[in-house]
Amino acid sequence: MDENRRLPTREPVGVHESLPPGWSVDTMEAPDLDDVLAIEEASFTNPWTRQMFQAEVQNVGISYGYVLRTPGWSVAAFCTIWVVLDEIHINNVAVRPECRGGGVGRMLLEFVLRLGAGLGARRATLEVRRSNLAALKLYERLGFAIAGARKNYYANPVEDALILWKESLERPPGSEGAGAT
Ligand SMILES: CC(C)(COP(=O)(O)OP(=O)(O)OC[C@H]1O[C@@H](n2cnc3c(N)ncnc32)[C@H](O)[C@@H]1OP(=O)(O)O)[C@@H](O)C(=O)NCCC(=O)NCCS
Repeated sequence: MDENRRLPTREPVGVHESLPPGWSVDTMEAPDLDDVLAIEEASFTNPWTRQMFQAEVQNVGISYGYVLRTPGWSVAAFCTIWVVLDEIHINNVAVRPECRGGGVGRMLLEFVLRLGAGLGARRATLEVRRSNLAALKLYERLGFAIAGARKNYYANPVEDALILWKESLERPPGSEGAGAT
């Protein structure tokens, strides 16, 4: 385990300033898991289990979970990522149904991409169901491009995964010199 690769949320890399007043992004902790699971179960036909999220939260140094808090919601959205060398792998992202369509997903992912870039990540990737047009629109808006597909990758229902990449992550001001660890 390499503690140096843990992504902080409170480092002075200029990423919190991008959020509206009263909003924050924090590391996902055990007390957040009830909310995270409720959002997960409202969002996916094959939801991750509590044990899967616990494994992510405990896998310090490789996987990182983040929750976006607003004045109205202790968890309005979450995402989990892996950092592999200079790449961010976005494994899971979902917004509370009541909070969708207002920029929450975009702000959380922009935050996490800038946080990773500030610590040396250069590119980011994820997979998405071919039919998930809302997510595809979000990723396109963030600068991801389709790079390939995995046939019948998902179950319930069976569907292809599209593989997306975003190159040349933008580094937040003041983070020059940070390198991937
Ligand atoms: C996909 C998801 C994360 C988007 O979050 P969100 O907070 O609703 O998205 P935002 O409001 O930040 O929208 C970002 C962009 O995506 C587009 N978008 C969001 N929802 C959309 C929808 N239902 N249809 C079309 N476009 C949509 C918006 O137009 C917006 O672009 P714009 O800023 O240029 O207008 C959310 O719908 C969700 O949690 N879905 C269920 C879980 C899921 O599918 N996760 C992705 C798995 S890969």
